[in-house]
Amino acid sequence: MHPDVKEILLDEKQIADRVAELGAEISKDYAGEEVIVVCVLNGAMPFTCDLMRKMDGHIVMDSIIASSYGSGTVSSGEVKIKKEMKQNVTDRNVLLVDDVFDSGLTMSLLVKNLQDRGAKSVKSCVFLNKPARRKVDYDPDYIGYDIPDAFVIGYGLDYDERYRELPYVGVIKPEAIK
Ligand code: IMP
Ligand code: MG
Repeated sequence: MHPDVKEILLDEKQIADRVAELGAEISKDYAGEEVIVVCVLNGAMPFTCDLMRKMDGHIVMDSIIASSYGSGTVSSGEVKIKKEMKQNVTDRNVLLVDDVFDSGLTMSLLVKNLQDRGAKSVKSCVFLNKPARRKVDYDPDYIGYDIPDAFVIGYGLDYDERYRELPYVGVIKPEAIK
């Protein structure tokens, strides 16, 4: 275990098992339809790679970098797109994939942004969900695991751009936070 990790919340097997279940469920839901799988960079990179390899059907991969700002509500929040997608989403199914749904602001605004571009459908898939932190009236369509309100690292999640490479999800030690 990495010395900056206090406790492992989800080990590699728990992650792989749940990702396989999600891949099967999502593939079933889109059966016969094309879906653009959009990795919300950088955090969702490991999860999106694993998830796609557990999916079948007509999949097109894309990615986006976004950040949200505003007063913390959907109505007044704004999403800033820092790296745009390559695909045109008009009349196509979009599945947004992110690492964690925290306040929910980023994902809910991204969903709205893509709906406004005329997508046929926009769904969201997050590996982790922190129900206690929710600030928006929106729930992801697919959730890997609900977790308590702790700052976690690994499996794509960072603290100051570190620890994304860890193959498990762990709680960071307070002394590792500067
Ligand atoms: P929100 O749902 O708009 O509040 O923001 C979600 C984003 O906050 C995620 O994509 C992460 O980048 C970051 N984040 C939230 N909680 C954590 C955590 O526990 N560890 C690492 N990053 C987190
Ligand atoms: Mg992120």
